[in-house]
Amino acid sequence: MSSVPMVGDFVRESLDLHLFMARIMKEHAIFMQAGFLPKDVNYVQQAEQFKCQFDEILKEAIMLSDCTASEDVLKSGELVTSTTLLAEKKTQEMTGIHIESSLTIEELRLKADLGTIPQDIKSHVQWLNQKAIELATAFAEFKAMILDQVTKCCLVTNLFPSQFTHVYREALFYLKVLKRLQNNQFVDARVDLLEQEVFWDEIMGEHAEFVAHFLDPSEKELCRKARDFARRFEKLEHKMKGEGLPASSFGQLIQENLSATLAVAEFKASGTELILACQLKSLLSPLLTDHTLREANYYLRILQTWKPGYLGRG
Ligand SMILES: [Fe+2]
Ligand SMILES: [Fe+2]
Repeated sequence: MSSVPMVGDFVRESLDLHLFMARIMKEHAIFMQAGFLPKDVNYVQQAEQFKCQFDEILKEAIMLSDCTASEDVLKSGELVTSTTLLAEKKTQEMTGIHIESSLTIEELRLKADLGTIPQDIKSHVQWLNQKAIELATAFAEFKAMILDQVTKCCLVTNLFPSQFTHVYREALFYLKVLKRLQNNQFVDARVDLLEQEVFWDEIMGEHAEFVAHFLDPSEKELCRKARDFARRFEKLEHKMKGEGLPASSFGQLIQENLSATLAVAEFKASGTELILACQLKSLLSPLLTDHTLREANYYLRILQTWKPGYLGRG
């Protein structure tokens, strides 16, 4: 059963979510911006605006998160990794798109919750959540509109149509968790674990597919590994969706998901390092691989919250 969250839980869960998701959204805007062709300058400008607006959400969340962030979130590598800053600098250099690295430096300096969350910031966090809901709704609509144009062959970009579906679904995920928080629908921002697993298994599988398609065909070994990961997550997703999953096999599936996600996170981390060292032939930017690594780290943290006997139903 859901219950009404304490002020501290609401504040911490909301801010933790923005620290992860506002950054993810602003990077989607960067990838889209980099993917449009010169004639679509209007879309480039709209993507630039979304990037700046999510930077504002992130900036506000960082400011409010001073000593409120959860320790496990800060340690998880879902907010920033050891390569995020370098990946941003390199991607800015390669694309000419400005990336606000000062926010990354500030996020790296965040300190964990000291158990003293000021009660008076609740209304500020509610306002920030509302602002993020409006912005993420507009951004989801923008992504859907671009996908529609691409699907109708009215627009060509350097991203695959399925990548627009992918980033659209991630915006909907952000919106869903935010709306649940705003409506006091659960104690902590972890939505149903089973539902999350199906969602993130699909996301992990798609990352592997995208990487396989963006690698140069000469990178045969890495292409093979990426396809293996895609198949592994597809199988896990089907198992999770299986009708009448007995509670006894849930723990086993969590372990399978954990080991697959740990392995794919390692694959993404080494890919980012290879790109940064200019040792990989591909169409991938280091920020894109680092981005997918942070999403894997987020999923890992969620998986690690599972305890035997707990089915994750809020
Ligand atoms: Fe993403
Ligand atoms: Fe993703």
